[in-house]
Amino acid sequence: LLHLLSIEGLPKDTLTHILDTAANFTSVSDREVKKVPLLRGKSVFNLFFENSTRTRTTFEIAAKRLSADVINLDIARSSATKGESLLDTIANLSAMAADIFVVRHSESGAPYLIAQHVAPHVHVVNAGDGRHSHPTQGLLDMYTIRHYKKDFSNLTVAIVGDVLHSRVARSDIHALTTLGCAEVRVVGPKTLVPADLAPMGVRVCHTLEEGIKDCDVVIMLRLQNERMSGALLPSSQEFFKTYGLTPEKLQRAKPDAIVMHPGPINRGVEIDSAVVDGQQSVILPQVTFGIAVRMAVMSIVAGNEA
Ligand code: CP
Repeated sequence: LLHLLSIEGLPKDTLTHILDTAANFTSVSDREVKKVPLLRGKSVFNLFFENSTRTRTTFEIAAKRLSADVINLDIARSSATKGESLLDTIANLSAMAADIFVVRHSESGAPYLIAQHVAPHVHVVNAGDGRHSHPTQGLLDMYTIRHYKKDFSNLTVAIVGDVLHSRVARSDIHALTTLGCAEVRVVGPKTLVPADLAPMGVRVCHTLEEGIKDCDVVIMLRLQNERMSGALLPSSQEFFKTYGLTPEKLQRAKPDAIVMHPGPINRGVEIDSAVVDGQQSVILPQVTFGIAVRMAVMSIVAGNEA
């Protein structure tokens, strides 16, 4: 694996290998990750052309735990604001001996473009591009599900909300179907669920009640207001009434169902605070698992595995 640009097309063995490598980085508690020298002398450049809290920070922590040097380019203060192109920016950072570029961009495909223009020893990891793909989020979601539920083959997983604009949904669907999940459902209004999902092997539901019935895992998605306009934009109150996950509605899922959310959360829009902070929520463990998963991805693409 030279770059990680998408989960689509990656075989089951590769996904499992990444999850197993991440598990090897975690200690007995499953939360602590020890520092290892695997990327000593390497430079990881975090290039976040779109805002982030979780992904940028956990990539930085992951790179430091691998003993790499980490450079966080402040895009808002960079010469991109003076009109320097994406590829010229990359060429100049490559001249500073970058080894790994971690790229988030609002344009789908930007990490692919970069991967086509870097030297063969440089690796690109997609940290979320437009509505296309967020592979490390997909992988940390799979790590979380495997941690709590062990085996994908008996699971029903519902992905709820603004599926249309969600790169997380697409990455989760590819990962779940590749890993042999028994049933993947996508749940949302017709305006926010793409029409072409059935060939991906998912069941489409347009009511929350049907969608989460007897589920093992419920993945809630944020309304991506920044990618919508006009008629597509539902009112927050209306959306919450119909698709918001409340403790009462969650009772339709299995009693031991886990609730996930990639963040950032909009409490009272797609999910009730009582569910976010409730017993079944694994939203913060997802964030923690992201460190080990991103360590695994960077060590594997760099060819420096434990
Ligand atoms: N889940 C996720 O990508 O969050 P951030 O946008 O904060 O990185």
